[in-house]
Amino acid sequence: MSARPIYFDCDTGVDDALALAYLIASDKAQLRGIGTVSGNTDSATAARNTLDLLQLAGATNVPVAIGERDFMTRSYDGGAPHVHGANGIGNIVLPKSTTEPSAESAVDLLLRLAHEAEGKLHLIAVGPLTNIARALEREPRLPELVDGITIMGGAAEVPGNITPVAEANIANDPEAAAAVFAAGWTVTMVPLDVTMTQVLEAEDRERLAASGTEFEQALAQMLGHYFEFYREIYGRACCAMHDPLAVAVALGDVEITSAPLVRAQVDTTNGPGRGQTICDLRAKYRGYPDQSRANCRPVLGITGDFPSQLTQLLLEPTAQVLS
Ligand code: BDR
Ligand code: CA
Repeated sequence: MSARPIYFDCDTGVDDALALAYLIASDKAQLRGIGTVSGNTDSATAARNTLDLLQLAGATNVPVAIGERDFMTRSYDGGAPHVHGANGIGNIVLPKSTTEPSAESAVDLLLRLAHEAEGKLHLIAVGPLTNIARALEREPRLPELVDGITIMGGAAEVPGNITPVAEANIANDPEAAAAVFAAGWTVTMVPLDVTMTQVLEAEDRERLAASGTEFEQALAQMLGHYFEFYREIYGRACCAMHDPLAVAVALGDVEITSAPLVRAQVDTTNGPGRGQTICDLRAKYRGYPDQSRANCRPVLGITGDFPSQLTQLLLEPTAQVLS
């Protein structure tokens, strides 16, 4: 498979940082540009984090554009410091990048890259979907201009992680998510159903920490804060691999055992269902036959040990940039 041109939309974020590392390390991805959005932290801080990580990784040729600070119907009101630290990257201090964010907005960058790649650009979004929704407002034909979209977000058959039914990326901006699901493409959704089953363990972190490169060592360091948050969930120091799994799915690196084509809708009401990704899985009793009005492939099952695979790729990149 030749390297896939990628636009990456993120709210960097500890697991976003690992997803970025995966994209840099893989020879299956050609990272064309990155847009940031508020979520784990504000969009400007997310861009700074991203630039600092890129410099540490020796990948300063990738443009990083600051995206939407506020969500579709409300203002950004602080990220998730209890999960990702006050600065989004586990409170560690990275060497400051000498590269500035791009002069373009994330929406401008995405639309420009989509046109330039002539139908081949794949979108990977691992934060709230605000930038993508704003891009769709500007260019409703976006789904025809790109090769597809993979998101980390939602919960199909499991509970949410922010409310009983809503996952964080969707909960932050349900209106944006609803617009993205309704845009006329098939969204590959990598939900909590699978991301919560992929757990990076202390041994994986130690392997990164023991590596010779500053970049992997920084990733290992920032995992400290994230591991402590997940200790309450898993009962040990470790963490779920949300965003990196979405990247691996987009690059065809995981074996998917279940990803039915279904109709998915996002609840934008103000009741207890707000932010829920309602996937119509009723047909599963009949082997998923009903594909009319389908707009989503929620990944519901995968095999293999993805966290070890991720660690291995970071330690032994297949792409040139880190060699
Ligand atoms: C998602 O929310 C964020 O905290 C993570 O970066 C991930 O994208 C998981 O619900
Ligand atoms: Ca994220």
